[in-house]
Amino acid sequence: MKKTFAGLSALVLAGAVASTTFAQDDRAIKAAVDARQAHMKLYAFNIGLLGGMAKGDIDYDAKTASAAAGNLAALAKVDQSRYWPEGSSTLELGSDETEALPDIWDEGSDIGAKAMDLVEATTAMEAAAGDGLDALRGAIGPVGSSCGDCHKAYRQSDE
Ligand code: HEC
Repeated sequence: MKKTFAGLSALVLAGAVASTTFAQDDRAIKAAVDARQAHMKLYAFNIGLLGGMAKGDIDYDAKTASAAAGNLAALAKVDQSRYWPEGSSTLELGSDETEALPDIWDEGSDIGAKAMDLVEATTAMEAAAGDGLDALRGAIGPVGSSCGDCHKAYRQSDE
């Protein structure tokens, strides 16, 4: 009798531990999704200013443009590997929680190469953004394409 009870409580305990681990995994996944979406928002915030200048909606200012382009280049270089844990795609979390498509985790995924394209484009823009409006206009296209290429492949579209 005593033995059964001990066995049972061990089992209950094991279950409790398993569900704690599960909750921790859930929290870790949520934190990673929050972090990558926040990172993307910082991209959007900085490129929003530069895009506004390129279009002529915002007055060009070399210092401000340089700072925003520097932010983008620095952000692109941040190690983002922990943003993408297994189990954090639209498939597992649903598209209310994330727009990250499962293809990101597929064998042959080139999301890393696409992230490197952005590093290259933003580094070039950082060098050019302070050299006048034409230089900024020339450099912003490749940056926008890097964002767009990755979204086209790996982000669920809004429609
Ligand atoms: C290497 C791939 C990649 C690159 C490069 C990239 N993105 Fe994203 N972006 C994604 C993915 C994947 C998501 C969906 C993330 C999610 O919902 O979990 C996303 C989501 C976003 C979002 C929505 C964030 C939110 O709040 O849900 C914005 C805004 C965004 N990206 C802007 C940008 C901009 C601007 C750039 C370029 C400067 C850029 N991204 C470059 C892959 C990329």
